[in-house]
Amino acid sequence: MKNNPILKEIKILLEDKPKLFMLLYPYMLVIAIALGVYFVLNLNDVARQSVPPKLADTTAVVADLSVIAAKSVPAADLKAISQPSPELIENGKQSFQKLCASCHGESGNGAGPAAGVLNPAPRDFTSSENWINGQSVTGIFTSMEEGIPNSAMVAYDYLPTEEKFALLHYIRSTFIKNAPNVTTDEIAALDQTYNLSAGAEVPAQIPVADAINLIGNEHNKEIKKYESLFNEIKTESVPGSFLFQRVSNSPVQVLSILEKSSDWRKSVSSLNDFLLANIGALCFNQTVYNLSATELETLYTYLQKKV
Ligand code: HEC
Repeated sequence: MKNNPILKEIKILLEDKPKLFMLLYPYMLVIAIALGVYFVLNLNDVARQSVPPKLADTTAVVADLSVIAAKSVPAADLKAISQPSPELIENGKQSFQKLCASCHGESGNGAGPAAGVLNPAPRDFTSSENWINGQSVTGIFTSMEEGIPNSAMVAYDYLPTEEKFALLHYIRSTFIKNAPNVTTDEIAALDQTYNLSAGAEVPAQIPVADAINLIGNEHNKEIKKYESLFNEIKTESVPGSFLFQRVSNSPVQVLSILEKSSDWRKSVSSLNDFLLANIGALCFNQTVYNLSATELETLYTYLQKKV
């Protein structure tokens, strides 16, 4: 064993460090390059995140207009109702017991018979805490006009302005201690926001997507109508039909234009003028220049019968 020539060689090598290094260097280089190539080829995996990004997909949520029924808000005499009066408060009480007490409670403490299951719970009017729109005339009016989103408090916008003021005067004078006074500025601002003294016509509104569908359906119906008329024309082997097909670039479009216009109906020459005035990709082609008088006459008679 001691005289094994290979072992001897290795021993010499181990002692000669530079030579050993030079011998191993090519192998190390190959390994380094192989690792490098592997890394580059798999860059996609290296860069891939294992945790999916939490960003919301904003393209998925498309807010559209809500459906609003048309309504008219009758003009209100703000001078007469902006300050509380015994009569207004009495009216407000009647209305409150009918419309609001089931949730807010007869005594306004938010503990009406329907309140138990509601989350958020109906406002306790006797507490001054956590009001969203506030205890001012503007605050309570706004709550009635718009409701409180994501709660059982729906909008009571359909109530007449007088009734809303009666309600808020009743609530403020009966349940709320030290309610902030009504100011004329406040009333003026409310008036401007909700058109109270002028009254307002609120037009109906439907979601844009629905409107587009409606328009699209109308349009499709119309196209169908002219398509079937053109199909009928195609089946007729009469000179008028051939002439129509010859002069029309876009027969379906042409039929719709012809039907909607009365310019060409008066006489043969008015049809001639109409043809010449409507040469184009979506209408008639250049062959209308070459129509003979008889052809024009034939086409006129045919179109009058068909369109
Ligand atoms: C179906 C139950 C229900 C009825 C009926 C109801 N409310 Fe409410 N109301 C609520 C709830 C619930 C809240 C609390 C909403 C919140 O805190 O998010 C609330 C809150 C309010 C507030 C406080 C808004 C604020 O600024 O925090 C006012 C004012 C109010 N209602 C007025 C009325 C009036 C006036 C009526 C009757 C015309 C009425 N409510 C009828 C459930 C109801």
